[in-house]
Amino acid sequence: MDLKGKKIILGVTGSIAAYKSAHLTRLLVKAGAEVQIIMSASALDFITPLTLATLSKRPVLVPFQKDETGEWNNHVELGLWADLFLVAPISANTLSKFANGLCDNLLTATYLSARCPVMIAPAMDLDMYQHPAVKQNLSKVASFGNVVLDAESGELASGLSGQGRMMEPETILASVEKFFKKTQDFQDKKVLITMGPTQEALDPVRFISNHSSGKMGLAIANSFLNRGADVYVVSGPIALKVNKNHFHWQDVKSAKEMYEASHKLHGMMDICVFAAAVADYAPAEIASEKIKKSDSELSFRMVKNVDIALELGKLKQPGQLHVGFALETENESENAKGKLDKKNFDLIVLNSMKESGAGFQLDTNRVHIFQRSGKSVSSDVESKDTIAELILDQIKLAPIWV
Ligand code: PMT
Repeated sequence: MDLKGKKIILGVTGSIAAYKSAHLTRLLVKAGAEVQIIMSASALDFITPLTLATLSKRPVLVPFQKDETGEWNNHVELGLWADLFLVAPISANTLSKFANGLCDNLLTATYLSARCPVMIAPAMDLDMYQHPAVKQNLSKVASFGNVVLDAESGELASGLSGQGRMMEPETILASVEKFFKKTQDFQDKKVLITMGPTQEALDPVRFISNHSSGKMGLAIANSFLNRGADVYVVSGPIALKVNKNHFHWQDVKSAKEMYEASHKLHGMMDICVFAAAVADYAPAEIASEKIKKSDSELSFRMVKNVDIALELGKLKQPGQLHVGFALETENESENAKGKLDKKNFDLIVLNSMKESGAGFQLDTNRVHIFQRSGKSVSSDVESKDTIAELILDQIKLAPIWV
């Protein structure tokens, strides 16, 4: 595949591996990409901007301010221009800034402004790469939806041997090509994802909720984003760190709010994924003041919440595709298939609370996906990111796409 028409920002940071950025630039340009290079100040100690500007055929950007003119290099425009922000090599220092939202140079400001997917290729010495702080930063940026190209093993500049070498430029190019190949399959699709729990208020300080962390929904949102979709998220209260700039993101609390937000969007969506764990019932009345402790027992009257997937299923038009989830504790397959019909889903993803490694809070899940056609597929226990990819691949198999 060529990269014709793809706009790539290549970030280069202070690492001995910066010398490989020249070769990487050449490969990207040769593959047809437009490459705009942004260097951190420390990268200048390792490779000259002249080399990279010559190979990329564009001036290299380093500081916020352009020389003498008083004009600035607009990080917001850069972030909007790019189809991909690739940082190769990324040093431990810049990685830490990405993980923590630090923004003290043009490269980090562009990262925070970028709406496009981000791919990073770390390069550092053996012990630095193994340090728990670096490991934590790598998994933190991965949880933001960034693609991490793992460092390779081999001889390091220090003379030590082990993992830490930046991935070879040819392998990075292959990852970029693969990435664009995948990104294309949901390009121009508008996708709505409901995710997380809902909170149903009892009084100003208490609510009824469930254990959903939002991890499964977020993994699906990230997969759609990375595969080119325009992603709308309606999320119940979650504690995950998310770069909401990448999405059309709405935070809601109750099932009623989730329904209202989703209903407004539904008409313009191509795909809706109902991953939220919505409370089926809510207190009939919300006390206006904090409920005081008095008797030994306290009862609440509960009323049925709107079933978002069911109601929107009634509005589904030809060309729209609905994906449901089923969280079951008994008669799993039968119940899931029942919901597939009742809620007018095109496919349903069953996760059973009885299977280890599956369900709420965990970083893993194990699912059984039932298509309306009767076909089904089961996964092993996998990371929620891998499960999300499987769900998207199954969506591609639904008859509506054929
Ligand atoms: O968030 P995590 O911690 O990562 O956990 C992920 C998950 C277990 C929450 C997720 O994988 C999942 O199973 N979500 C759906 C849970 C659920 O509510 O299942 P259900 O069988 O009760 O509902 C069936 C379907 O109807 C679901 O698509 C649900 O979103 C939808 N529904 C249910 C009730 C309601 N009032 N409105 C709805 O839209």
